[in-house]
Amino acid sequence: MARVDRERRRWWDGAVDFEQMWRDLEPLGRSASSGGYFRQPFGSAERECTAWFHEQAAARGLDVAADGNGNLVAWWRVPDARHPATVTGSHLDSVLDGGAYDGPLGVVSAFAAVDLMRERGFEPATSIGVSAFVEEEGSRFGIACLGSRLLSGQLSPDQARELRDRDGVFLQDAMEQAGLEPSLGPSTLLDGVSCFLELHVEQGRDLVDRDVPVGVASAIWPHGRYRFDLAGEANHAGTTRMEDRHDPMLTYAMTVLAANKQARVAGQRATFGRVEVRPNGTNAVPSAVTAWLDARAESTERLQALVADVERLATERAGRDGTTVEVTVESQSPEVAFDEDLAGRLAGLGPWPVIPTMAGHDAGVLASSGLRSGMLFVRNPTGVSHSPAEHAGTADCLAGVEALADALQGIAGGFLPDDSGGER
Ligand code: GLV
Ligand code: MN
Ligand code: MN
Repeated sequence: MARVDRERRRWWDGAVDFEQMWRDLEPLGRSASSGGYFRQPFGSAERECTAWFHEQAAARGLDVAADGNGNLVAWWRVPDARHPATVTGSHLDSVLDGGAYDGPLGVVSAFAAVDLMRERGFEPATSIGVSAFVEEEGSRFGIACLGSRLLSGQLSPDQARELRDRDGVFLQDAMEQAGLEPSLGPSTLLDGVSCFLELHVEQGRDLVDRDVPVGVASAIWPHGRYRFDLAGEANHAGTTRMEDRHDPMLTYAMTVLAANKQARVAGQRATFGRVEVRPNGTNAVPSAVTAWLDARAESTERLQALVADVERLATERAGRDGTTVEVTVESQSPEVAFDEDLAGRLAGLGPWPVIPTMAGHDAGVLASSGLRSGMLFVRNPTGVSHSPAEHAGTADCLAGVEALADALQGIAGGFLPDDSGGER
């Protein structure tokens, strides 16, 4: 991250801490070849990030509370708080070969916002927490927002106990190997919290096009992950006549093209980003292909229709290839409309534009659980995300921190009416 310019440094010396936090995190889990990050939940790099989280909390005198799912909140506790608490944060795990910003920007900015509020001499009337939720990306155990889903009861402990990573390691075993004592399921970590804010790098080009550094989320598209198990018959690549084959790779190839076309025609999103082939040998017709579809649409009905179309086309093709198709829903996230009043007030701080996103977030899961939630986005000059090229400029990040601190102060100062009509 480039050095902060002098202008910004003048208004806020905390920028130095922001940059230092960023430098601390920079090497953790970074691939020397791609420059991308491999921070899989409960793996060594993500645990180093978690240790960093504890250090940052301790340096600020914040008490860290953890739940049995591995989620963390570092509390700036206010004795005799007059309002329910507010939590802000994001996640420290990454996709495979991901960028530096998706997740960590929200956690670093949360600590920086605490610093900024303190530097301003702000004395909150409510406790403020900085959070890090585990396995937001679902890159190891397949379910996105695993930590916040478990915490809020949107994934049962029984389902979570069945989850294994690509090497067959169960979630609980991975947690134990990382030195944790798992107790999966709903937790009290956010009890007494009435508002959650997540700051996140923007994962598109909306803010670039609008020429503003910060935006506010209005909604998240419904999305899901679907496993396609395509089975055929293994055979010799040389001696098997082309017309005698039952090749699931053909079914797979056509399914990928069909998904792309269906999504393009309908203005939606469909991606096959992960595939496993058995036996994966150059000179054998494969016996099986397993592939994962990530699909997103602006309404649940349209998402279901998109996935049904892809399944229908895959099945038709399988009929021609002499293969079979089985589709399993691995996870689904409903549409999220963020609290309009909160979004409007956050937008008023800028003024910042209010924009929808097609990416999933813990804030969306928590909003679905009934917790008043909102999101701030920080401009990403290329719009690229889930890639080493993901980026945000320092000045924009600091504008995000300032917006977050303003929002937290506003909420702590009663800027949100409570549900009963009184001031929070
Ligand atoms: C999370 O970043 C997702 O939208 O997949
Ligand atoms: Mn994220
Ligand atoms: Mn992500």
